[in-house]
Amino acid sequence: MKDAKTFKVKNICCIGAGYVGGPTMAVIAKYCPDINVFVVDIDKQKISNWNNKDLNKLPVFEPNLDQIIEKCRDKNLFFSHEIEKYISIADIVFISVNTPTKVRGFGAGKASDLKWVEACARQVANFARNHTIVVEKSTLPVRTAEVIQNILEIAQRRTKENNEAPTFDVLSNPEFLSEGTAINDLKNPDRVLIGGNNNKAIKTLSAIYENWVSKDKILETNIWSSELAKLTSNAFLAQRISSINSISAICESTGADVREVSRAIGKDTRIGSKFLDSGPGFGGSCFKKDILNLVYIAKFYGLNEVADFWESVVNINTWHQSRISQLVIKNLFGTLAGKKIVILGFAFKANTNDTRESAAIQICKDLINEGANLIINDPKVSSNQITHDLEMEQLNTKLEENSFYNNNGLGSWSFSKNIDIEIFEDAYAVLVLTEWPQYSMINWKKIAKKMIQPGWIFDSRSILDSEEVKNAELNLWRVGDGS
Ligand code: NAD
Ligand code: UDX
Repeated sequence: MKDAKTFKVKNICCIGAGYVGGPTMAVIAKYCPDINVFVVDIDKQKISNWNNKDLNKLPVFEPNLDQIIEKCRDKNLFFSHEIEKYISIADIVFISVNTPTKVRGFGAGKASDLKWVEACARQVANFARNHTIVVEKSTLPVRTAEVIQNILEIAQRRTKENNEAPTFDVLSNPEFLSEGTAINDLKNPDRVLIGGNNNKAIKTLSAIYENWVSKDKILETNIWSSELAKLTSNAFLAQRISSINSISAICESTGADVREVSRAIGKDTRIGSKFLDSGPGFGGSCFKKDILNLVYIAKFYGLNEVADFWESVVNINTWHQSRISQLVIKNLFGTLAGKKIVILGFAFKANTNDTRESAAIQICKDLINEGANLIINDPKVSSNQITHDLEMEQLNTKLEENSFYNNNGLGSWSFSKNIDIEIFEDAYAVLVLTEWPQYSMINWKKIAKKMIQPGWIFDSRSILDSEEVKNAELNLWRVGDGS
């Protein structure tokens, strides 16, 4: 009976083996052992890393992802660059490619760049053979499904002339996972959202999720609501962070403590306690891009006040990041020239190796511009990634005192794999930018002895024991702590 209402699914192809495609397909493969899941990507190096026997070399670090890969890879989960081949045998194709903000042309700086999505739709149009359900997994502007549908229809008309017409359904099934907790989020989602017009296609996708998600958590909507709900969800989450970060500045000026304010307001069940941690400003590949996309859509429809409202969420975030850089400069007597500063954490949050839009990028650039010599540690981010993000090679030689004289006042950075005591030698300040748990276990008494006095600790994540830092006779700045 169930089969009569759903399409048969034997093979799934996911285009895009990134932070979403990789973990999402791994979880589908885990819970659907009878379905073959092929994850394809144009990036051959990435595919080779997904196939690496050494699970530490997977291109995405996510807690518990390696265990699923070990269990399913080459059984019913495959990573390949043979995109055409696996589209042609797929019953469902997930499009999970990047949709960054456009950097040039109309809408640059706000609208999503859909060139990768369009390329995927054309590939599906060209290589699909039978009935294929095309699922938008990427986060997309409202009405993108229409674009995909149009491209697929052109293919249908063309192949009809050759008597082999594939047929298509397009669904929107946005992903809500957060990096660092992706596997848990995928296993226990708050909801799965499926938007579409064809009930049979919706039921087919729903049946996949029902292997591990209870039916009451699977929401069916029209396709435009599904697309817009994803953008709205990210906008609401980011708005909470900008709200609490703006309050942190008021706390610092008035003697209040943002942690206490968060706790107090979070007890109101209408507000809720999650996403109220003040930090260095939100990062990650999604929030900024998705809000700017919403701003673009609002402007497109002439809703300028709506656009301004959402744009202010991003503006506060940018202001908050530069506020932190300025605080460091101010507290180090107005100059960072030649001063060594230790940066703890470069990823945009803990438990990921992703640095996209990390607050650390702008803050480090600001400090280097002021002449500081940074030592950067992150347990999962590579020095190559930091070189890419800071658009600057690291200094390999041991830092010379007053080395700023040789560099026209521009500072430098170098990478440290560990947080051994030596890296704090002669440092003027330490900045905690990512909430990796190991940073809260640092022995500040030992470190204080190595630092130049007065030594400053800037805790942008509120993860340090403030008493311990103060007892070590170090100056402490904590975000939102006016006490
Ligand atoms: P990503 O950059 O990590 O991965 C995208 C992959 O797609 C890349 O490996 C790229 O090589 C590949 N690709 C691009 N065009 C291709 C093509 N034509 N054929 C084959 N492969 C192609 O991006 P991501 O973080 O996985 O995000 C993917 C989408 O999911 C975006 O729309 C994003 O907004 C959305 N999303 C991301 C997250 C997140 O936490 N990262 C969460 C929810 C939704
Ligand atoms: C976000 C959404 O949460 C997720 O649903 C969507 O699918 C993708 O975008 P992600 O960016 O991976 O996920 O991580 P998230 O936990 O949302 O954190 C985003 C940024 O906000 C990080 O820089 C994080 O440190 C910051 N943050 C989060 C805060 O500063 N305070 C908080 O209370 C929560």
